[in-house]
Amino acid sequence: MSEDIQVKMTTMNYDKDRPAAENPVKIEDLSLRDGHQSLFATRGRTEDMIPVAEMMDDVGFWALEVWGGATFDTMHRFLNEDPWERIRTLKRYIKKTPFSMLLRGQNLVGYRNYADDVARAFVERAAENGMDIFRTFDALNDFRNFETVVPVIKQCDKHFQGCICYSLTEPRMGGDVYNIDYYLKKAKELESIGADSICIKDMAGLVAPYDVFALIKALKDEVSAPIHLHSHFTSGMSQMSMLKAIEAGVDIIDTCMSPYAFRTSHAAVEPLVMALLGTNRDTGFDIHHLAAINEILEKEVIPKYRHLLDDTKMSIIDINVLLHQTPGGMLSNLVNQLREMDALDKLKDVFAELPRVRKDLGQVPLVTPTSQIVGIQTVNNVLFDDEKERYKMITAQVKDLCYGLYGKTATPINPEVQKKALKGYERGEEPITCRPAEVLEPELDKAKEDVKGLAADLDDTLIYALYPVTGKRFLKWKYGKAQPPEEVRAKTLEEVKAEEELIKKARAGKLVEKPDKQQPPKGENLRTFNVFVDDEYFDVGVESTGGAPVVSYVQPGTMPAPAPAAPAPVAPAAAPAPPAPAPEAAAKAAPAAAPAADTDGTPLAAPMPGMIVNYEKNVGDTVNEGETVLILEAMKMENALPSPTSGTVKAINFSSGDSVAKGDVLAIIG
Ligand code: CO
Repeated sequence: MSEDIQVKMTTMNYDKDRPAAENPVKIEDLSLRDGHQSLFATRGRTEDMIPVAEMMDDVGFWALEVWGGATFDTMHRFLNEDPWERIRTLKRYIKKTPFSMLLRGQNLVGYRNYADDVARAFVERAAENGMDIFRTFDALNDFRNFETVVPVIKQCDKHFQGCICYSLTEPRMGGDVYNIDYYLKKAKELESIGADSICIKDMAGLVAPYDVFALIKALKDEVSAPIHLHSHFTSGMSQMSMLKAIEAGVDIIDTCMSPYAFRTSHAAVEPLVMALLGTNRDTGFDIHHLAAINEILEKEVIPKYRHLLDDTKMSIIDINVLLHQTPGGMLSNLVNQLREMDALDKLKDVFAELPRVRKDLGQVPLVTPTSQIVGIQTVNNVLFDDEKERYKMITAQVKDLCYGLYGKTATPINPEVQKKALKGYERGEEPITCRPAEVLEPELDKAKEDVKGLAADLDDTLIYALYPVTGKRFLKWKYGKAQPPEEVRAKTLEEVKAEEELIKKARAGKLVEKPDKQQPPKGENLRTFNVFVDDEYFDVGVESTGGAPVVSYVQPGTMPAPAPAAPAPVAPAAAPAPPAPAPEAAAKAAPAAAPAADTDGTPLAAPMPGMIVNYEKNVGDTVNEGETVLILEAMKMENALPSPTSGTVKAINFSSGDSVAKGDVLAIIG
């Protein structure tokens, strides 16, 4: 039963006269997972969570979301951090507040269904490492994808929070797919499989205040498990929706600390604390304590991430979400992908194509990974289709979806698209109707075998099992078998300050342009000099190379010692450009490992930037036109690249794990 909001307090001196609320709203903080995932591309590092960890533990949150979602992927791929270690480290500082993670059902923390043995091992290890609440969702709301993980969560004596992905096919809740009956039916299903709480997961910020009021009221009347609301700020509605949900009797809501709030992230906690002050749903949180946490975040943490924030627009809301009902993350992926392919002018076409593709693919909710699946296929259609043929380049994931590998879609898939997608599909041309993971062979033993001698324990093996290419690369970094590249290194506050200084100088017109010249390697005859120009000091290296002395490097003396390529970040490229080979031509020429005589033939060029997953053909193999030569991962989707012609593979220019630019010649067929 829901209850009305009652204001109990008349004085504003809340420190003294604040009454304890009868039914305080419980709050889960998302700053340390969804907050930085939404604002800073999930690049938050564990070391930047520690300065506030103990203070966050003292707030009184119902839970702290600290793991899952995209963190596992970005940590091992971009941050050179062991994902498992984060849970253990934070547990040393946060002892009272339960930890929550986002579990993508049978997709775990990846983008495909994993076999049951991997899913079981993953949940067990997450629980063992310190996870308490498993917020579990399935992109299609097909709860058969919970059948493997839920019993393990229960066996480990942990909290199973079942999610219903909130989706719309029109601007407001209703219509014949995502109406109130749909959500009630799904909530009852979750209750019947033992959900300890039920979460409405509004990943796109679509839920409107009066819709959520009606929805929460209906859920509170018909379901007994506590109801939790997760919503993103993206469209600008979430603060209003949270308040209406509280009025309707919601038990738990999600917020972020204000430095991690708003934009594509979440409602901020502080205004809600004040809005509920003195009412029967007062959070009881100390606003001064929250302010103290914010001060540390603003001073010591956020400066390291600000460059990742998309602040190209003045507005902090994305009106496109209101117009297109698509998640903000998906929109930024689409924009990035189009930009990388030099096709930003096609954005309008993409918005027009998106609802068509979604309808063809069974009106799936748009959430990871379905938002990417629908998004990338939409971009492919816009870029590669013509009047004669639609769905010219179908991604491997769309084929999997058409086969039934993700589960049952909300409405049936367009049979024509399905037939085309499944033509020659490796698992079979007839789609399945069973629980998807039933058709998957066990994967764990093979993974163990693959990383024998490299993985030290099951946690390591799971990193590889979930992410074979980048996971293996990470394990090599972890055990010193390969040198991690410079770009995975953490940015220090000193570097941030030095950059800010340079930007200030540039704005004031005091920055001297540096020509973009290749540095010769430093030799053993190098001598260094301190050079003073007015109030500036430079550290100059001079080296004789037989003839006249050559200035080997100059770096401002105020920079930290080993600063890589000093003021590069803001130095504009010297104009006019030197008459060097065009970058594209250079890239094409560079990796040619095959003998020159063999490069006559038809090139297979990368249609988009990405990473090579693997080549399915070797040099010397014969291929037919249209047959898959290699798999290219772009925007986390795998694309099977077909041979442009029939013949023999003459050259293979890259290998598994290599990053390639658009236009790079990946193979030559002759
Ligand atoms: Co979210």
